[in-house]
Amino acid sequence: MDERTIQKLIEEAVKVLPNSYAPYSGIHVAAALITDKGNIYRGVNVENSSYGLTICAERSAVSAMVTAGERRPLAVAVVTDLEHPIPPCGACRQVIAEFNEEAEIIMYSVKSGERIIVNLRDLLPSPFKLRR
Ligand code: THU
Repeated sequence: MDERTIQKLIEEAVKVLPNSYAPYSGIHVAAALITDKGNIYRGVNVENSSYGLTICAERSAVSAMVTAGERRPLAVAVVTDLEHPIPPCGACRQVIAEFNEEAEIIMYSVKSGERIIVNLRDLLPSPFKLRR
């Protein structure tokens, strides 16, 4: 992914970070993904009193993409207000892999400015698959 797109995805995630609903953990996360059509979809974590119902930012963004009729994320930025960037949790890795096993994952901390970029293949080498 080119530097301009990486910066754009981080910016788009940072814009919605204040909308993160995280009254229980206090950990705010936002995600922005770009598809093969060049469109950007965003999501934030949405926590719940029944903790296990919490939805991560990455899965919110994938849902927004699918709702809009798209199927192919090329890169996903995950932005947090923690000191260090965080990788997608196992569930989110699997959900992103459903649509692109080799998506670029861009992790960024607004607190420290630290940035890490990895390929989903390295985070989840062997996703569960039913299709094909
Ligand atoms: N969280 C995400 O939004 N994405 C991840 O990949 C890891 C965790 C959220 C869920 C919860 O609201 C908070 O971070 C603490 O686990």
